[in-house]
Amino acid sequence: MCGICGYFGAEAVKKVCDGLKILEYRGYDSCGLAYVGDGKINSIKTLDGVDELIKKSEGLSTEMVIGHTRWATHGAVTLNNAHPHFSASKKLVMVHNGIVENFKELKKNIDIDFYSATDTEVFVNLIEKESGSLIEKVISASKKVKGAFAIIVLSERGEVVLGKRETPLYLSTGEKGVCVSSDVLALDGEKIYALGDDEFASIENSKILFFNKNGKKIVKKCEKIEKNMNFSQISFKTHMESEIFETKTALIKTLKKYKNEDIFSLIKLPKNFKSVVLVACGTAYHSSLVGAEFFKSIGIDARAYVASEFRYGREILSEDTLYIFVSQSGETADTIASAKLVRARKLCTLALTNTPNCLLNRVCKSVLPTFAGREVAVASTKAYCCQVFSLYLFSAYLAGKRLPTVQTLKKIPLLEFPREQVEDIAKFEKVFFVGRELDHLTALEASLKLKEISYINSVAIASGELKHGTLALVDETSIVVAISTEKRVKEKLRSNLEEIKARGGKIIVLSCFDDFADYDLVKIEKFADFLMPIVSIIPLQFLALRVAEQRGFNPDRPRNLAKSVTVE
Ligand code: M6R
Repeated sequence: MCGICGYFGAEAVKKVCDGLKILEYRGYDSCGLAYVGDGKINSIKTLDGVDELIKKSEGLSTEMVIGHTRWATHGAVTLNNAHPHFSASKKLVMVHNGIVENFKELKKNIDIDFYSATDTEVFVNLIEKESGSLIEKVISASKKVKGAFAIIVLSERGEVVLGKRETPLYLSTGEKGVCVSSDVLALDGEKIYALGDDEFASIENSKILFFNKNGKKIVKKCEKIEKNMNFSQISFKTHMESEIFETKTALIKTLKKYKNEDIFSLIKLPKNFKSVVLVACGTAYHSSLVGAEFFKSIGIDARAYVASEFRYGREILSEDTLYIFVSQSGETADTIASAKLVRARKLCTLALTNTPNCLLNRVCKSVLPTFAGREVAVASTKAYCCQVFSLYLFSAYLAGKRLPTVQTLKKIPLLEFPREQVEDIAKFEKVFFVGRELDHLTALEASLKLKEISYINSVAIASGELKHGTLALVDETSIVVAISTEKRVKEKLRSNLEEIKARGGKIIVLSCFDDFADYDLVKIEKFADFLMPIVSIIPLQFLALRVAEQRGFNPDRPRNLAKSVTVE
């Protein structure tokens, strides 16, 4: 997580602050910058966000700046732990994204008084202890570090060295100078270079030299990288609200792209293709669960796994399986590690991502992009809908079915959850989401959304499972939101709701069926089955958003979380 940015050239302070503003989605616990001025290194840090950093650095003029926006891994959210971090002599300063897994072991051999609890302070002091030029020091220190990292190191003499392993780092050159950033969207400059794993670079007078892990100079070609992801404008009070409202446009764009461009036929399928394994985290895992159902419905065996489990699990990998890695950002550490594991076995890997040029796309053999546009809010909404939709479209393509029309998508309602019920739910400290089959999967996503941004304790469960334990939690202090769009099991769900009612639980039903009219019913329109997970999640995303607002929380910046999870 964490975003790093550096600029070396005219207007460096402004460029770094602009970059950090874009990178704030990667973590917002603290931010800071360091610069060379009067022959020494100075820094400015704050716990109050990039806007405050901009205020604090007003009037500052220098041509060498590195900056950081933090999601805390080692050490509490304090100014001491905020980046950039200095070496003991104050001759080096560094910004870092990643985790030094062996930092305790390394720390034992560095005999200084550490001022922070971070692994970064250990790393920068490790660099200082090495011998040779700055690039030599960085390369040899990196060899001793276990774990993923992206770093920019600045010396008091104005030397700049950067490097990375398993987490992104890009450079660009423009008229005014060289820019370095964790995300292409924060780059300023036309020619873009993507640093590979265990590659390093030094920047001197706008000249970039690239090195491999042995310190040998290498030549890197600049890449054509798509920076424009559209829809980044915020048209409502929060990014989350704007992004829910963009869902329909995103779905239509995805459908049109798939219809007009040869995207599916370029996907490399396994010989004797028999099954699909989907691997993802969080919301992307929930869309994978739905996707697995689509594949099963066309006769392809399919399972979905949480990436952090898959990468250390005992799954037997097989040549007749297509492994699909689903990720909005394409940067999620566990998902990428899982993809690398499968790719190393030379099996068929497909990245389903929303971010052009992301790391996951580089790891997998084929790419199936979604076209949701940039998603800024931590809570994933339109990207989830696009993932579900893409997985359906891919399954339909494999089964030789006709794809749906744009006209159908235009009819999808962006339905708000009724205000009265929102106010009701916001009062409870326990919210259960229940459903069966696909509705159970929607319940999982609805529950994650609610707890993520409103901090209400929420559980999602297949309603038939309630009486096997969880029903014990249901009482007058809890509320149950039931989802019913699956005709086959609606009577079964109804029986489960009666059981809840008998125990004094309050129930709200979100359904496309009139059968639940005797309950507090939020009625949604009936569409083709494959669209129902999308039609039903939209009001539930609104529910989470409005409850968070009602409770006075900023839905775009939930506590303890960040948009990109680049550490395991
Ligand atoms: O970028 P990814 O789709 O790989 O991210 C995976 C999860 O971190 C993400 O979906 C997370 O669960 C969201 N905050 C959910 O709203």
